[in-house]
Amino acid sequence: MRALGVCYYPEHWPEEIWPEDAAAMVAAGLTWVRIGEFAWSRLEPEPGHLDFAWLDRAIAVLAGAGLKVVLGTPTATPPRWMLTRHPDMLAVDAQGRQRGFGSRRHYCFSHAGYRAESARIVTLLAERYGRAPGIAAWQPDNEYGCHDTTLSYSPAAATAFQSWLRARYGSIAALNSAWGTVFWAMEYRAFEEVGLPNLTVTEPHPAHVLAFRRFSSDQVVAFNRVQVDILRAATAAPILHNFMGRETGFDHFDVGRDVDIASWDSYPVGFLEDRIEADEAWRQAFRCQGDPDFQAFHHDLYRATGRGRWWVMEQQPGPVNWAPWNAAPLPGLARFWAWEAFAHGAEAVVYFRWRQLPFGQEQLHSGLLRPDRGETAALREVRQVAAELSDAPEIGQSAADVALIFDYPSAWGWEAQPQGQDFSYFRLVLEVYRGVRRLGLSVDILPGHAADLSAYAMVLAPGILAWDDALRAALAAYAGLAVLGPRAGARTAEFAIPPRLPPDLDPLDLKVEAVESLRPGVEIALAEGGAFRHWQEQCSGTAAVVERTEAGAPAVFAAGGLRYLAGWPDAVAMRRLLAGFAAEARLRTLDLPEGVRVRDTATERFVFNHTRDSVPASAVPGLQQPLGPADFVRLPRAEV
Ligand code: GAL
Repeated sequence: MRALGVCYYPEHWPEEIWPEDAAAMVAAGLTWVRIGEFAWSRLEPEPGHLDFAWLDRAIAVLAGAGLKVVLGTPTATPPRWMLTRHPDMLAVDAQGRQRGFGSRRHYCFSHAGYRAESARIVTLLAERYGRAPGIAAWQPDNEYGCHDTTLSYSPAAATAFQSWLRARYGSIAALNSAWGTVFWAMEYRAFEEVGLPNLTVTEPHPAHVLAFRRFSSDQVVAFNRVQVDILRAATAAPILHNFMGRETGFDHFDVGRDVDIASWDSYPVGFLEDRIEADEAWRQAFRCQGDPDFQAFHHDLYRATGRGRWWVMEQQPGPVNWAPWNAAPLPGLARFWAWEAFAHGAEAVVYFRWRQLPFGQEQLHSGLLRPDRGETAALREVRQVAAELSDAPEIGQSAADVALIFDYPSAWGWEAQPQGQDFSYFRLVLEVYRGVRRLGLSVDILPGHAADLSAYAMVLAPGILAWDDALRAALAAYAGLAVLGPRAGARTAEFAIPPRLPPDLDPLDLKVEAVESLRPGVEIALAEGGAFRHWQEQCSGTAAVVERTEAGAPAVFAAGGLRYLAGWPDAVAMRRLLAGFAAEARLRTLDLPEGVRVRDTATERFVFNHTRDSVPASAVPGLQQPLGPADFVRLPRAEV
């Protein structure tokens, strides 16, 4: 049974109104409430002086009203006294400046003293609430990596990095040889000599940067694991973390392995302004709805990192406060977004936040209630979703025919050496995802170490930095159609060009002999329509040329079930090429109007209209009547 919930901060409100809030949540059809994740200064106002009594009462009120509580650990907001105790626990930015107190996430993942403090408070919470009847799930910390906090260039990070390097390479000679430090005479004589890759005169060595990114990701995993281990020993309730949109600082598949449920925080209208490359027309068209693919991409991503179990832990209800411009979502979207998440398999959608707070940084962030406790339109939509959930048929398991590989180390590698200012791995993957979704196909996302592709008719692997052995073997055994490139298999795991040249994958007899990045506005027209932009490659080999540029250069190659794109297709070429590949893979595709997307489950097709206009019934097979703006429909699969 799918469920709804809300994020609530009892410490922000007078205790007298907690019962009224709890009753109103239940009346709205909410069953989950998340609390606690920023409350450390109230739980421990002075070092060692604990006050859990108010939290006991808050849990009693909420659970007493029938709500299930997700209890957050408060480690994203260490209180001010913590800095007096551990002045060096703050992260240091790439410019060498210590980050300050006065907002949140002011800690360095590598600081042993802060890790111990985190373990201490989590232990206390686990001992007190591990078996408490109202606590139905736990959330360690809040949004790892938010506000660029994964990377820290602190002394603690420097020391921990050296230990990490010793464990990875064994000897300094092995590190020198793996990285190729003979270049510019960067050879090291001992691990103690290896510093952090910041403040160098010009760009640091990319292998050094990639190692630091791997290390920093592992530090997040280790920090989280401390909390998970403590919680596991004390509770049988599931553990989940709230991940973010377009956060590639650490490997979410690695953190995901340690939790029971992945969740993420979805702010579609904020993200469009803040986190997506888009032209002005696109921004105008979707400014009150959000990008039609960004949320779905993350739903599919977190379904994968959560190994099937995932939630939306924070759902935008109205305007947010943090994007460059903060539009009000179109009426209907608080409902629409919940159903979009359910269609992708979410178990729960939790709105952020219950009531708009009249003070602090987020006073212009909407909630389900206004600051004066009045209702918002979003609350009425939430009630509607709750009513629909109790009536509607359960959503069947998803069964996508297409898989898309998303690999965090590739994001790190291409950030280390983009070669063109606008080469972004995330952007490339999202554009490929958008391309397949425009064809009406549903997608599963797989990690770069995916070992079994056999369930899919088509697999897409754009921009994979280095082939993982498991993926190499899976591709060799794969009987479907695999679409690779651009820039796939272009480096070894230690960031060198592979000896036999990219894409370095049998049986694709192809060598990328040269690459070129393309400045904005440059388009390399393709013979059949559309163009390459951002990036193109010159390749040679015996693989068949299936498409050329207008000027006659080979642009797309084929060998057996492998296809290779020697450039970054624009939207027109992407759609055309992917439609052709899908046809080769015997997939049935649609030609959807812009902003209309479908999501297939085993039994149903959901059609979502992300545009501001009605979509005529004739535009999508199976639609019986026009689909209004910010609306969706559920169609039986048998009828489409
Ligand atoms: C998230 C965060 C919440 C809140 C929200 C505002 O990033 O987890 O605590 O700040 O954004 O949109």
